[in-house]
Amino acid sequence: MSERVTDTAAVEFRAVTKVFESGKTRHTAVSEIDLRIEHGEIFGVIGYSGAGKSTLVRLINALEKPTSGTVLISGTPITGVPESRVRQLRRDIGMIFQQFNLFRSRTAAGNIEYPLKVAGWPRAKRKARVAELLEFVGLSDKARSYPDQLSGGQKQRVGIARALATSPSLLLADEATSALDPETTGEVLRLLRKVNRELGVTIIVITHEMDVIRAVADRVAVLAEGRIVELASTFDVFADPQATPTRSFVDTVLHIKPSAEELARLGERHAGQLVTVDIDDEHGVGDALAVAARSGVRFEIVYGGVSSLQDKTFGSITLALDGDPDAVREAVAVLTADTLGARSERRTA
Ligand SMILES: Nc1ncnc2c1ncn2[C@@H]1O[C@H](COP(=O)(O)OP(=O)(O)O)[C@@H](O)[C@H]1O
Ligand SMILES: [Mg+2]
Repeated sequence: MSERVTDTAAVEFRAVTKVFESGKTRHTAVSEIDLRIEHGEIFGVIGYSGAGKSTLVRLINALEKPTSGTVLISGTPITGVPESRVRQLRRDIGMIFQQFNLFRSRTAAGNIEYPLKVAGWPRAKRKARVAELLEFVGLSDKARSYPDQLSGGQKQRVGIARALATSPSLLLADEATSALDPETTGEVLRLLRKVNRELGVTIIVITHEMDVIRAVADRVAVLAEGRIVELASTFDVFADPQATPTRSFVDTVLHIKPSAEELARLGERHAGQLVTVDIDDEHGVGDALAVAARSGVRFEIVYGGVSSLQDKTFGSITLALDGDPDAVREAVAVLTADTLGARSERRTA
């Protein structure tokens, strides 16, 4: 792994806005983006369709020019510099796509070799590099297969090998697993982690799927209507999502914390008071149950779950407490005290 000694970010956005104008209509695709993506990280960008994700990617590889603001790659602005410099910067960026974008008329090896030809590598060196890349992505036995003879996952592995051919330090993956089934998605994401860990390549993963973020990203930015509405470590985003779009993304993956509607339903089905307690490495489910048991009131676990991410535990349980009102009040007070990590409390009739 090539460690770069530098305080420049791999990618930096400074107040970047991109407005598309066609005729009389103006559409702001990304708005006032400030962002630093560090060397060596896997950075996720999640957003719904139309959020501006692909525009963000195209601003990084200089396929789009910001309407205002500056994009820097390893500290170098990519606008207002000579075209030759842009080409040079772009050579240091690999890209993979949802639809793989392979040449159907070329074999797997031929596809991987193509960027090396463009870069003017001599034949013998190209062949050696292609063999090495096929080995790295686990497709040595498919060198002579054409894309139509490969599965979706294999095609994307060819795409990754091709993107890495000229040893870029940055890899952009725009919905790279969106055309794949969950199992194949897992395979491709494991390969991306290997690319990051073994080759030290910075990876930007663009997706609308929170599962993808969860599987690979160190940090994640949530994009909505062209703006970053949340930016945090993947753990923090899952454990404690703040913005509304973030919460709905997290909810698609985890069903650990009841929504307001679920709480209302639970309130109808269970007597007493509902209390939701956060679970983490310091505050286990057992601690909450011990408090409930000591209080002497009747209690039941009515909702919850515990998960782990980046080697840390998070989750929540919701208890229904019923019995002597003073005892219930006392139990809720202890459960919602900071030391137990409890956060929310819902009173039901
Ligand atoms: N070349 C373009 N011309 C006009 N509008 C565009 C162009 N590219 C993207 N847009 C608009 O910008 C918004 C963001 O698009 P995009 O970046 O593709 O979002 P995403 O990848 O998150 O789905 C969309 O409303 C889209 O229609
Ligand atoms: Mg897109």
